[in-house]
Amino acid sequence: MDSLLDVIRNRYSCRGYLDKPVEEEKIAYLKECMRMAPSAVNRQPWKFRIVRSQEGREKLQSCYSRSWFNEAPLYVLASVLHEQEWVRTDSKPHGNIDVAIAVEHLCLAATEQGLGSCWVCNFDAQRCHELFQMPDAEEPVVIIPIGYASSTEVPPKMRKVSQEVFFEE
Ligand SMILES: Cc1cc2nc3c(=O)[nH]c(=O)nc-3n(C[C@H](O)[C@H](O)[C@H](O)COP(=O)(O)O)c2cc1C
Repeated sequence: MDSLLDVIRNRYSCRGYLDKPVEEEKIAYLKECMRMAPSAVNRQPWKFRIVRSQEGREKLQSCYSRSWFNEAPLYVLASVLHEQEWVRTDSKPHGNIDVAIAVEHLCLAATEQGLGSCWVCNFDAQRCHELFQMPDAEEPVVIIPIGYASSTEVPPKMRKVSQEVFFEE
């Protein structure tokens, strides 16, 4: 079994997918990894739509038009439920943080299962909200396309060096 660091290093933004469905067992595994994520005050202020139907896929594809995005056999549309999120006394809401944690669980689990994934936030969120008939207090946060990558190459990681990001106090 790969170490967690291996999985983290092997996760990358996959922008090319094979026309091959994701197995049910793998989808169940990914869902459990999301469900187990921590959240502020354990509020779990999230909703995850597993989008596989042709109709659902077309709705999402109309919110983010990239040819590689259309190739994915399934998507997870993650949204925050603002009425359920924890808000700190200085008014900072934490729902987006909670959703991000669960979604990165998803991406790492996908990598571990041999699947590609990509964070997509640059989509038309207003259109998505309308098409999926979300209530006012629900906000779509991110779409994750998931599927078997069309390339086996993991691109090199471009990251700041340690001295730029870690500080001893
Ligand atoms: C919050 C967030 C939003 C992102 N939105 C998009 C997006 O809309 N489209 C896209 O192609 N990539 C998107 N990305 C992917 C980043 O560009 C990518 O993670 C970054 O360049 C590092 O590359 P890597 O994921 O391959 O390590 C997003 C990533 C994050 C974390």
